[in-house]
Amino acid sequence: MPDLQAVVQEIAAEMAQRPDRGEVAHYIPELARVDPQLFGIAVIDADGRAAVGGDADVPFSIQSISKVFTLTLALGMIGDRLWQRVGREPSGNPFNSIVQLERERGVPRNPFINAGAIAVTDVIASGHQPRESLGEILRFMQSLARDPTITIDGAVAASEKRTGFRNTALANYMKSFGVVEGPVDYTLGVYFHHCAIAMTCRQLATAGRYLAHSGRDPATGYSVVPAERAKRINALMLTCGHYDGSGEFAYRVGLPGKSGVGGGILAVAPGKASIAVWAPGLDAAGNSHLGRIALERLTKRMSWSIF
Ligand code: DON
Repeated sequence: MPDLQAVVQEIAAEMAQRPDRGEVAHYIPELARVDPQLFGIAVIDADGRAAVGGDADVPFSIQSISKVFTLTLALGMIGDRLWQRVGREPSGNPFNSIVQLERERGVPRNPFINAGAIAVTDVIASGHQPRESLGEILRFMQSLARDPTITIDGAVAASEKRTGFRNTALANYMKSFGVVEGPVDYTLGVYFHHCAIAMTCRQLATAGRYLAHSGRDPATGYSVVPAERAKRINALMLTCGHYDGSGEFAYRVGLPGKSGVGGGILAVAPGKASIAVWAPGLDAAGNSHLGRIALERLTKRMSWSIF
């Protein structure tokens, strides 16, 4: 078995050399300022050992990776009733697309495209003050990552709120079908802020461990979700976690993964490891360019794949 720490170090060194870094997200002004030279990787194995490389301890905006955790919370709150409000099929469209919503009566294709994630956030936010719902999401992240210092980057949230015209359109459109129930500005406020949670690769890989170990956090023995639910969340990550790049990611990496426009990817090697990579430059589908390449190399060298 190759030495995990050596493989991770090797990949970090290779990524540092590459000239092709992708494009940072420009539509959220605060993210456009992040240095595309940064690269981080953290892999936590089944025994809890961390192999890290590059900027693994630099916080970044987790963006859509937060949608894995809001999905987990919403399923915990209303169980399978969630599927009346959001589907489970890949969209084959960009993450912020609106076209399918009209044909499908305001029900988004899956919980990871923006429309679906806003509908999921609405479930969590319903009947609460935005501050309370946000506190609940943040505390969940802190407890999974076992780090109470994790915070929301207020500048990123404000930047997104100022420029979030598409998300506002998606939320209002769903509201007209009754798929969003609460006040649109409350739901969007919670959504923008949970996307703006800042975490390091090491924290994110720690937080994802329950997905790699049948719903149970091996550090605490605490069951975060039943094994069957962990299986389903992983299935959605595999089929929908990279939007219209999900097929390519599955083909190249062979693991469930969830990307964010901050350049992070959380990937799950069931029974083996929880992995977080971060490289701010994105590909045409809005997924981390070098993050995907790093994961492809990691899974190849470690022979980790669900297939
Ligand atoms: O709503 C947005 O556009 C962002 N807060 C999240 C999008 C995102 O991360 C897409 N991921 N690749």
